[in-house]
Amino acid sequence: MKKKIKRIAVLTSGGDAQGMNSAVRAVTRRALDAGVEVYASMGGYYGLVHDVVKKLKATDVANIEPLGGTIIWTDRCDEFRYEEGMQKAIATCRKYKIDAVIAIGGDGTFRGATDLSVRGIPTVGVPGTIDNDITASDYTIGFDTAMNRATEAFDSLRDTCQSHNRINVLECMGRGCGDIALRSGLAAGAVGIAIPEVPFDEDALVARIKEAEAAGKRSLLISVSEGVAEKNGKPFGEYLTDKLNALCKAGEIKHDARFCRIAHVFRGGAPTLRDRDTATRMGAFAVDMLLRGESDRVVLERNGKLVSMEIKYALITDRMYKGKLKEGDLDGFTGEQIAGMKEICEERAKEAAELVALADALCI
Ligand code: F6P
Repeated sequence: MKKKIKRIAVLTSGGDAQGMNSAVRAVTRRALDAGVEVYASMGGYYGLVHDVVKKLKATDVANIEPLGGTIIWTDRCDEFRYEEGMQKAIATCRKYKIDAVIAIGGDGTFRGATDLSVRGIPTVGVPGTIDNDITASDYTIGFDTAMNRATEAFDSLRDTCQSHNRINVLECMGRGCGDIALRSGLAAGAVGIAIPEVPFDEDALVARIKEAEAAGKRSLLISVSEGVAEKNGKPFGEYLTDKLNALCKAGEIKHDARFCRIAHVFRGGAPTLRDRDTATRMGAFAVDMLLRGESDRVVLERNGKLVSMEIKYALITDRMYKGKLKEGDLDGFTGEQIAGMKEICEERAKEAAELVALADALCI
């Protein structure tokens, strides 16, 4: 018989993402409404490992929607990767009679969640990361705000490039996923977008720059994802900036170039409506799943609707998309399930390639 859930823990883990607070609020209020007590594990899994937990009242999560960051802190807790740390976390759950955990974060957070599930603590994951790198989900909490940070940066760079007749290369966060660089580059009218998912043609970029110069364009923006492989021992954006400056010096192009990295600025600031809205709906959805007895699953957005998926399936789909499948990863999945993973990966790859091509076609 399924155990009635009386007490849950909520945690945010990995890189913080704007909108996490709305998710924490929704989890807390939805659970309290259903007569379930809520504890925050402070600083992600660290709180469970080290017994740093805090009981949440409805008022503890009041007025937090506009706040960036996460009021219950976050961490990339190394100890939780090992059995000893996990057992400490489970002991904390037993101490406070915590029946289930909602873990808000990215793929590392979900790996932790599934580790807890298989050890007897029901867990549901909520995708919260600016990177939008949960392949099976169309959206992760924080992505919209981060894209807006990038767009603001591009707009500022456009102003100064326009004055100076210059190129500016902006490096965008995203770890191995190019979505922030892609979408903000497209929105900014970038003359080039370099992301890990799509091969980057440097000669074609130079040709577009020459064409733009011939057309009289003064400001040229280039969007580079931090996930693009280093070249000549340098982050790709820095390498590209050097190369363009060398071409300028040699008289091949007229614009000189500057490089910009705003790094953690991407993760700050007030969440947009999109992030607050999605986080609120996902947080409540996660509580409802636990109350229905569902566990070891992650909430996803697919075609505008909230759905859920087995955590392992989502993680293996990620690995497949990133070309990081290990031997045995697909063991235990049916042919139909594997075909489903491939379909998700193909859809995503196709969309990325089409958007880069669109940006290239529209930039001059
Ligand atoms: O995963 C979110 C993210 O901001 C990535 O885009 C970035 O590569 C990484 O975290 C930075 O990590 P840290 O906060 O540890 O510097």
